[in-house]
Amino acid sequence: MLTLEEYVENHTTKEDEVLVWLRRKTNLTTTMPRQLSGQVQGKLLEFFSRMIAPENILEIGTFTGYSAYCLSKGLKPGGKLHTIEIKDELEDHLKDFFSRAGISDKVVLHIGDGAEIVKEFGFKFDMAFIDGDKRQYPLYYENVFDKINVGGYILIDNVLWYDKVVSQVKENDTYTKGIMALNDIVENDKRVENVLLPLRDGIMVVRKISD
Ligand SMILES: C[S@@+](CC[C@H](N)C(=O)[O-])C[C@H]1O[C@@H](n2cnc3c(N)ncnc32)[C@H](O)[C@@H]1O
Repeated sequence: MLTLEEYVENHTTKEDEVLVWLRRKTNLTTTMPRQLSGQVQGKLLEFFSRMIAPENILEIGTFTGYSAYCLSKGLKPGGKLHTIEIKDELEDHLKDFFSRAGISDKVVLHIGDGAEIVKEFGFKFDMAFIDGDKRQYPLYYENVFDKINVGGYILIDNVLWYDKVVSQVKENDTYTKGIMALNDIVENDKRVENVLLPLRDGIMVVRKISD
C-alpha cells in the first residue's frame, strides 16, 4: 500500500538529472538533507515562478541550492535570483552547483544573515521565498515585505511545522512560536491576501496588494 506522499510523488513530474545529482550530494554531505524542498515542492516552486515570470526573485535560506534551481527556471530572460545563505561553509558547494546547473549567470549568492542583507537591496522583487531560521520568520516577513512590488508574491515554507501549529506549544519551543506568530501576522495584514497551502510542511502564499 502506498502512502499518500508516495502517491503524490508518483503523479508529479520527476526531478531532472541536475536535481537527482543534487539530492544525492546533499544526502552524502550534509547532516540534515531533508531540509531541501524535494521533488513535489520543487516542481510547485518552479511552476509558481513560471506563472509569475519574475524579473527578480529573493530567497532567504539557500541550503544546497535545490529551491534556488527550481525558482530560477521561471525567471524572465535577463532576470536574477538573489539567494541568501548564512552558512559560509556552503559557499564553495553552491558556486560549484550553480555552475554545474548552468545558472551562474542568473543567480547572485549572498553569504550572511538574510534579515539584514534584505534591507540593503536598492530595488524591489516580484517574488520571494522565505525558508531560513523559523524563529526569525516575523522579522524576515517585515523586511522582505518592503522589498516586494505591489502585485508580487511572498512564499513562506514550513508554516505547518510538522503539525505543531495545532498542538499544545511548549514554552521553550521558539521555532513553533516563530511560525505561529508569522501565520497570525500574515492573516491579519490588510496589505495582503494569502492562502495557506497544506502541501508537504505547509507553504504560505502571500500576494501583496498595497504598500
Ligand atoms: C530549510 S533550509 C533551506 C532549504 C532550501 N530553501 C531548499 O528548499 O532546498 C534553511 C537554510 O536557511 C539557512 N539560514 C538560517 N538562518 C538564516 C538567515 N538568517 N539568513 C540566511 N540563511 C539562513 C540555513 O543555514 C539553511 O541552510
